[in-house]
Amino acid sequence: MIEVQVLTPDDWGLWRRLRRVALGESAGAFGATLAQWSGAGDTEERWRARLSEVPVNLVLRWDGVEAGMVSSYPCDDGAVELISMWVAPFARGHGVGDAAVNFIVARAHPCDVVLSVKSGNAPAIGLYRRHGFLDAGPSPDDPTERLMRYQPVRAQATT
Ligand SMILES: CC(C)(COP(=O)(O)OP(=O)(O)OC[C@H]1O[C@@H](n2cnc3c(N)ncnc32)[C@H](O)[C@@H]1OP(=O)(O)O)[C@@H](O)C(=O)NCCC(=O)NCCS
Repeated sequence: MIEVQVLTPDDWGLWRRLRRVALGESAGAFGATLAQWSGAGDTEERWRARLSEVPVNLVLRWDGVEAGMVSSYPCDDGAVELISMWVAPFARGHGVGDAAVNFIVARAHPCDVVLSVKSGNAPAIGLYRRHGFLDAGPSPDDPTERLMRYQPVRAQATT
């Protein structure tokens, strides 16, 4: 069974623990690095600020064990950006990523959901495509990343 916990800034210790594992385990998948969140960058104040500035932060459990995480925040253009997606290796291929995307897409409704993904990250691109995300071109911020966008079906205007 997959459970979703919505975090508050007081859960910074849980987020810190999982995020540091994610940054170490999947170093190539993220823009951030473990080094940036270590040493002087690894303070309670900074982790709390991260959970305050990004409004939606989830930890997912698979059969009671912490197994994944994801966040989202509103963009300037009205869309919602999905970030920090990670599923622990032991839980991959069991629906944890699906549950994370479903929650973020439902929470964002009726807004579009956008994300950046490394162009060679086939497992992640496969997951997002299965949920209806389409390639939206190269990332303006990073030539190694592609943008993907999910557009919910919007009700047709009736006259
Ligand atoms: C990408 C990721 C979140 C997918 O999580 P998940 O819960 O395994 O998602 P899915 O079960 O939908 O699997 C996604 C793809 O990985 C494949 N997969 C299944 N088991 C896997 C495993 N043990 N290891 C790697 N990939 C696996 C699936 O076949 C699927 O590919 P498909 O859609 O072509 O069939 C997870 O692999 C991960 O955390 N990767 C490292 C961090 C990362 O890339 N984050 C995304 C940043 S944009």
